[in-house]
Amino acid sequence: MRLRNGEHGYGAVTKVLHWLTLGLIVGQFVVGYTMPTEGSAADAAADRVHDSKDQCKDRPDEERCEEEVDRREDALDAQADADEGPSDLHVGLGLAILALAAARVVWRRVGGLPPWAPALSHAERMVEGWLEKGLMLLLFAIPVSGLLLVLGSDDWLGLHIGAHVAFFVVVGLHLGLVLKHTVIQRDRHLARML
Ligand code: HEM
Ligand code: HEM
Repeated sequence: MRLRNGEHGYGAVTKVLHWLTLGLIVGQFVVGYTMPTEGSAADAAADRVHDSKDQCKDRPDEERCEEEVDRREDALDAQADADEGPSDLHVGLGLAILALAAARVVWRRVGGLPPWAPALSHAERMVEGWLEKGLMLLLFAIPVSGLLLVLGSDDWLGLHIGAHVAFFVVVGLHLGLVLKHTVIQRDRHLARML
């Protein structure tokens, strides 16, 4: 298999970069949606324990009871603090995706792109060209907004979420175009990237 893109189609480097990115992105979404964040279970539990302090009132061991409640509340607060923010895995995967995106831009410049698949109409080529630019842009926007969120302020959360929702839309269209050709028209479009 050839390393570079050319008349024959995509080379190995572009293919590896494309599918590695997809793999990491899928993993990253699983991590992003499952990691505990602010307002976690520990946060809520600490609030409940705090409210239960009233029950100590007028008990013979009131002071000891309140101390016990405080101790449990402190432990849950510490847990909530530890839960806050992204996991190391989320940050690590994000940085790897960012590095891959940069490598792809460089490789597109150096190696160029193969000729368009013959099956794509003029309009589809234009749409796919824009979709690819959008995808590449979002591969930067998502992790960079994540970094701003961690290093700057919580105000960036909207951008971080907005960018990845936009990513779902654009990747859906990209996939739709591929499936239109492979499943409906039964040409070898997907094979170009395999
Ligand atoms: C391509 C890379 C990335 C993807 C696909 C991604 C995706 C996600 C997703 C799906 C969430 C959950 C949002 C929600 O609950 O609706 C999230 C939250 C978050 N991500 Fe990322 N992320 C990426 C990179 C990063 C990086 C590099 C950082 C930081 C260095 C980061 C920091 C955060 C933070 C701070 C949160 C929110 C935690 C909270 O709600 O308190 N992300 N991300
Ligand atoms: C993380 C999600 C994805 C991103 C960011 C992405 C991005 C791209 C980009 C930028 C290209 C142009 C070639 C390049 O510069 O690498 C491309 C081509 C392609 N992608 Fe994706 N893609 C994603 C997911 C998928 C999925 C899920 C499929 C199908 C199962 C797919 C199938 C293809 C095919 C078949 C091509 C070649 C199009 C042609 O014939 O020229 N991609 N993709």
